Amino acid sequence: MTDLPPLVVTTSLKATAETQIRARERAQHWEIPFVARDNLGIAAILPEGGAALVFSNAEMHVATSHGRLKHHLGTAFIRLKSLDRGDGDPLVRAGDLRPGDHVLDTTFGLGRDAAVAARAVGATGRITALESSTALFHLADEALAQESLLDASAPITLHHQDARTFLENQADSSADVVLVDPMFTTPKASDAGFEILRAVADTTPLDREWIRAARRVARRCVVVKVGEAQPWFDAESLVRVHSHSSATWYRASADGE
Ligand SMILES: C[S@@+](CC[C@H](N)C(=O)[O-])C[C@H]1O[C@@H](n2cnc3c(N)ncnc32)[C@H](O)[C@@H]1O
Repeated sequence: MTDLPPLVVTTSLKATAETQIRARERAQHWEIPFVARDNLGIAAILPEGGAALVFSNAEMHVATSHGRLKHHLGTAFIRLKSLDRGDGDPLVRAGDLRPGDHVLDTTFGLGRDAAVAARAVGATGRITALESSTALFHLADEALAQESLLDASAPITLHHQDARTFLENQADSSADVVLVDPMFTTPKASDAGFEILRAVADTTPLDREWIRAARRVARRCVVVKVGEAQPWFDAESLVRVHSHSSATWYRASADGE
């Protein structure tokens, strides 16, 4: 896991007394310092090189010196519609996802792939998800507690854990499909939110050990989404299954397959 930026909890300028109490309670529970907003601009609140979890009356977002990040499923909505129309989705095809599957998403992020997987495996399936960035974990966890966006979808259980540590502790073949979507090393020109996400994300690079651990834990396959292939992909049996403008999907069969 890469070093994560320092984090504080604060409130928006118009936070009610109730929101302020909630923010303080959450900060204490999460063991993250609370900084009273006191009419200050967000720049005065942000720790050096760090970020703030900002409670407003309606939601919680992450503030960084690059801008703010709210939880939103964004492109997942288009993908969910495509699934509903029967047009499929690259992740669903790459993982051959079926109703009732258990998917382990080792890099949850904003949960877009997890939302698509949850819809594909349906109410009889389940999603276990991991997010090691403290800011992104809390952003997602708060959103999952509030959103009923994923009706008729599998439940998502999100853990604040490093993917590789978690995988080490799992039994062989204990999830049908393991998903790995680490942070890209270079931004996509079209992705305005990239720098904000990158400021708080875990930027651990993908390596062979991660893929090997994932293949041991997977019963069917490992699905990997990357900006660019690594020279060792062939040696680790990663086969390209789909490409679009911003990412390429690879698949490796599980060890036992
Ligand atoms: C490219 S984003 C994933 C996007 C996600 N698939 C989606 O659809 O929203 C990568 C995420 O994985 C997290 N991450 C990176 N390395 C990790 C690790 N070793 N363990 C757990 N999470 C990790 C990052 O903090 C970031 O949120």
